[in-house]
Amino acid sequence: MNYNKKTVSDIDVAGKKVLLRCDFNVPQDKETGAITDDKRIRAALPTIRYLLEHNAAVIACSHLGKPKGEWKEKLTLAPVAERLSALLEREVIFAKDIIGPDAQSKAAALQPGQIMLLENLRFDIGEEKNSPEFAKALADLAEVYVSDAFGTVHRAHASTAGVAAYLPAVSGMLIQKELEIMGGALEHPKRPFVAVLGGAKVSDKINVINNLLEKADTIIIGGGMAYTFIKAQGGSIGTSLLEADKVEYAREMLSKAAARGVQLLLPTDTIAAKEFSRDAEPVCVSTMAIPDDMMGMDIGPDTQKAFAEAVQGAGTIVWNGPMGVFEFPAFAEGTKAMARALAESGAITIIGGGDSAAAVEQLGFADKITHISTGGGASLEFLEGKELPGVACLMDK
Ligand code: 3PG
Repeated sequence: MNYNKKTVSDIDVAGKKVLLRCDFNVPQDKETGAITDDKRIRAALPTIRYLLEHNAAVIACSHLGKPKGEWKEKLTLAPVAERLSALLEREVIFAKDIIGPDAQSKAAALQPGQIMLLENLRFDIGEEKNSPEFAKALADLAEVYVSDAFGTVHRAHASTAGVAAYLPAVSGMLIQKELEIMGGALEHPKRPFVAVLGGAKVSDKINVINNLLEKADTIIIGGGMAYTFIKAQGGSIGTSLLEADKVEYAREMLSKAAARGVQLLLPTDTIAAKEFSRDAEPVCVSTMAIPDDMMGMDIGPDTQKAFAEAVQGAGTIVWNGPMGVFEFPAFAEGTKAMARALAESGAITIIGGGDSAAAVEQLGFADKITHISTGGGASLEFLEGKELPGVACLMDK
């Protein structure tokens, strides 16, 4: 896939109306709706500031949650407009609709150096359907399209891909940064290149493992998906997570790793419990011999040490997915140990969003990590080597 795309600095935006797709899909408190983490809003600030400083009139837009074409008051972007305004220290005009009369009149009146935000794109069914009519109506608000919504580049929606058929389309600085850092790590990694993969399911990471086996020197597998690999090696995994239909695949990956000379590390000890619960009693057992009535919940101390040693001396480390049930404190040690090991490794370290990013942030290691991606699903698809519709639609350099 070609990632060499035109960016905001390759075009003249002065005096132009710019439709800016951001990923403002931020976590909110279920009760109050308050934004609980504004990292994605902050991540969009460099491009917004650049556009405003270069005299563009910025029409920002985003989705929030999954309203599926219905108008849901809880998923209004109004709180995002407020937070964005506080971060930018300037007014953010909020349109009460997306392509309706309010958006149209506010967009028409918008002056260079001003910014407005449209209401949640997914309130219109045309967004996720990538409807040409909806894409065209969005495009009609502006003269240039800038996409900076890295977290959403894996979606072929009207605002992430369709709109590029009607306007000159370039990337913002966030997409550019994500592509440069993650693309650089995949294409020209400083070696040894170590990939750390965790999370519950093998099926979520099938293509990532396959793609990284072509590129990495070492692959570390932890989290719930490790047990399908242990099963493939003939271990007894008790009631641990198992994807029975992926055992053969796991066997193939083990053989592929051996054939390519890629070191593939699996847990040797496991923190197991009788039930999946916060209060379950943790017991350390051999991963190959988990008692019949127990399930693996985290990697054990020997594994933590072995995995930490495997990342020492690495040139590049990419990490996606926790090592255990990180949300339960008794089973968070493995994920914490991994976060610490990355922070202390001295390598170029890249975290592919989601829970591993949250772990690194909560533990206070975020500033010791080279890059924490703002994309969850998007960074996973990037690591799979898939074509990303939100990138493919932008103009080549
Ligand atoms: C994300 O949170 O990963 C992106 O904003 C995409 O959201 P989606 O999974 O609802 O498309």
